[in-house]
Amino acid sequence: MRAHPASASASARASVPAGERPAAREAILLVGGKGTRLRPLTVHTPKPMIPAAGVPFLTHQLARARAAGVEHVVLATSYLAEVFEPHFGDGSALGLHLEYVTETDPLGTGGAIRNVAHRLHSAPGEPVLVLNGDILTGLDIRALVATHRDTGADISLHLTRVEDPRAFGLVPTDAAGRVTAFLEKPQTPEEIVTDQINAGCYVFTRSVIDTIPSGRPVSVEREVFPDLLATGAHLQGMVDSTYWLDLGTPQAFVRGSADLVTGRAPSPAVPGRRGEYLVLPGAQVAADAKLSGGTCVSAGAVIGSGARVDGSTVLAGAVVEPDAVVKNSLVGARAHIGGRTVLDSVVVGDGAHIGPDNELRHGVRVWCDARIDGGAIRFSSDQ
Ligand code: GTP
Repeated sequence: MRAHPASASASARASVPAGERPAAREAILLVGGKGTRLRPLTVHTPKPMIPAAGVPFLTHQLARARAAGVEHVVLATSYLAEVFEPHFGDGSALGLHLEYVTETDPLGTGGAIRNVAHRLHSAPGEPVLVLNGDILTGLDIRALVATHRDTGADISLHLTRVEDPRAFGLVPTDAAGRVTAFLEKPQTPEEIVTDQINAGCYVFTRSVIDTIPSGRPVSVEREVFPDLLATGAHLQGMVDSTYWLDLGTPQAFVRGSADLVTGRAPSPAVPGRRGEYLVLPGAQVAADAKLSGGTCVSAGAVIGSGARVDGSTVLAGAVVEPDAVVKNSLVGARAHIGGRTVLDSVVVGDGAHIGPDNELRHGVRVWCDARIDGGAIRFSSDQ
């Protein structure tokens, strides 16, 4: 890691007239991860392209970035990279200019940021927004950019507070909000020195991106941030405890989609009115079926008579037969759920077929194209 150019951020701060709060015009979106925790949903579809509230999850992030003043976004792709551009094209439908840079071998979060640097147009002292591609948040992005400018930081991080920090790396800050350390997941109660964690959204001063080593995998959390801190760089934390959810696991993804449908999670890209459910054009829902809790039914999906679907996502072309009960679950594209079958907190992969009168509960994952016969299974993974 080379020393950071400390003067760049200072000169950027001096050039911004007092009271003016311009946005970051450019953003990098990290969308190249394999999404292993979300399998089987990520077998055919990269995590940012899985529909949440009726559109690929990435749409919500792009729309929020646009609303915060971003004009140019570089997507750092790797896993299943070929599916992004056919969907989003040049970004004009979202009012953005989109570019795609693909890593042949994944470069990690830091390596991916460095790898797209040549596509940025910002001047050395200007702010560049960096977003993890799996975070759903109500963060005030402009406030993070303003904090970055006002403090003259090299990097500013959105921090969120969590009730149980044991599963996260911790980011303590001093009284002025300056990051003092990046701590690994705490092993003992004494090691829980803060409830602040890295929320996966950053503002980098453009020139700082060039200090990331190039051409090899680099982790932004484990290498870039700690190394910069060690060389005396200014890393600023901004705690914003509005809605925040890491959609990395199936249960979190299902909840995030439901929260988008009900309006609990903010997004300008939900294709319809917020409420108990969202039925996309081309879906068929029986008049006596009951949809609730932020359920989303995608185009071409069919919900049969008497079925109850609560807090769930039913993807395109899936069929839920009469009197089935689907709760807090995700039913993959073209999957089939038999009559009277009960699903609770389950993920059904694309094209899977579950016959009638089955019962699957907490955390069960049915692989893509798997077949479970009628009445064959009553299974809960936590019993
Ligand atoms: P898991 O395998 O389930 O941990 O998911 P993941 O692969 O998405 O990893 P993680 O959640 O840690 O990644 C955080 C963000 O960085 C996600 O938006 C990923 O798409 C992205 N990301 C992770 N690794 C890479 C990489 O090597 N290249 C690029 N371009 N993006 C990455």
